[in-house]
Amino acid sequence: MKYATITKRLAGLGSGKWALHIEGRRKAAEGIPVIELTIGEPDLPPDPALLEECARAMFAGRTRYSNGRGEPSVVDALVGKYSRRRPGVTSRNILCFPGTQSALFVVMMGLLDAGDEVLAGDPSYATYEGVVAATGARLVSVPLRAENGFHMQAGDLEAAITSKSRVVLLNTPHNPTGAVLSASELAEIGEVCRRHDLWIVCDEVYEELTFGDRFASPFDNPDLADRTVVVSSISKSHAAPGFRSGWAVGPAEFFDHLLPVSETMLFGTQPFIADMTAMALTQPIGTAQTMRANYQSRAELMVNRLSHSPNLRTHLPEGGMFVVLDVSGTGLDGHEFARRLLHEENVSVMPGSSFGDGARDLIRISLTVPETTLNEAARRMVSLAGRLSS
Ligand SMILES: Cc1ncc(COP(=O)(O)O)c(C=O)c1O
Repeated sequence: MKYATITKRLAGLGSGKWALHIEGRRKAAEGIPVIELTIGEPDLPPDPALLEECARAMFAGRTRYSNGRGEPSVVDALVGKYSRRRPGVTSRNILCFPGTQSALFVVMMGLLDAGDEVLAGDPSYATYEGVVAATGARLVSVPLRAENGFHMQAGDLEAAITSKSRVVLLNTPHNPTGAVLSASELAEIGEVCRRHDLWIVCDEVYEELTFGDRFASPFDNPDLADRTVVVSSISKSHAAPGFRSGWAVGPAEFFDHLLPVSETMLFGTQPFIADMTAMALTQPIGTAQTMRANYQSRAELMVNRLSHSPNLRTHLPEGGMFVVLDVSGTGLDGHEFARRLLHEENVSVMPGSSFGDGARDLIRISLTVPETTLNEAARRMVSLAGRLSS
C-alpha cells in the first residue's frame, strides 16, 4: 500500500527513540526487577483537590463540547498567569491544547513549510525532531557544550542560521541536560532572532522545577513579544501528565491564524480537565515545591555517588528531573553503556543518542524514584563502569 510521505519522515522518530525503555518494561513484565530511570514522569500523584475538582466538574455536566481556543475558566487563568509576567496578555494570546506536545505540533504546523529550518539545541528533547519533520521542515543542530553548562550560546546559534531558518526552538529548564537559561543569555539569543527575523518557540514545561536562579523566559522580554510563543502544561508542574492539559501563549495575530489549524485537528479540549487546570493555575498547590526539593536533592546525591567512578563524568543540573552522565571514559558510547546497564545490572536509562548526535556519549538518568533506589542504581552504574575499565 502507499502512504503519505509524513509516515516516512517520522519513521523511527516516535517510540523508536524509547527502545531501551520498552525493553526494560518487557524485562520487568517477565518478573525481572528493573530499576526504571527512563521516562520523565513525576513520582508524586496529582494533588487530591485537583482530582476532586475534575470529578466534580464531570458530575456537574462539564462533559460537553468545548471551543477551539479553550474553556473560559482556563483561558482566564492563563491570562492571569502570563499577564503577571508581561502586562497586556488577553485571551487572544492563548490557545489550549492536550499537552505541550500537541501545542508544539500545531505551533510548528502554523510556522513552517517544507524546506524551512528550525534551530534547536543538540541535545534536545526526543520528540522535537519528529515535530519539525512532520511539517516537512528540517531540524538544524546548535551545539550545547558541556563546558558551557549545556547553555545555548548566541554565537553558536548565529553560526547555524541560513536563509531557510524560520524558528529557534528553545527549552528551559532543559531536557535532558537541566540547563536553565538566564535573562541575559535569552536577551542575546533574542537579539540574534530579531536580527535574522526568526520566531522563538520556548518549551517551558519545567518552569516550576528550577532549582537555583530565577526562571527566565523570552516571553518576559517585551522586545521579543511579536516573535515569541511559549508552550507548557500541567504535566510536570502538577504531576498530571495523563490529564493531557497544556497551552500555547503567543502573538494574537498569529494565534488568530493558528486557531483553525488547531480546531481542524482537535475540535477543542475537555471542559472538566479545563476546570481542573484552572484550579491548578489559580490555587496554591504545593506539588511543584515538593518535587523541586526532591529532584534537587536527588540530583546532588546522584552526582555525588557517580563521581566515585574515575571514568564517569557528571554534571549538576540547574532544574528539571534528570541528570546526564558522560560515559565516554568507559570506552563505550551512551547507547552501548545503557544497553549493558540494562542487561548486566537491570537498570534502564535513556541513551543520549535519543536526544541528538551531540549526546551520544551521555546517558540520561531520571530522578523520579526515591533516594534509596537512586543510590542502588548509582552503585550498579559505578560497578559497570569499573568492570569496563578493568
Ligand atoms: C521538554 C519537554 N517538552 C514537552 C514534553 C511533553 O509534555 P506534555 O506532557 O505537556 O505534552 C516533555 C515530556 O517529557 C518534555 O520533557
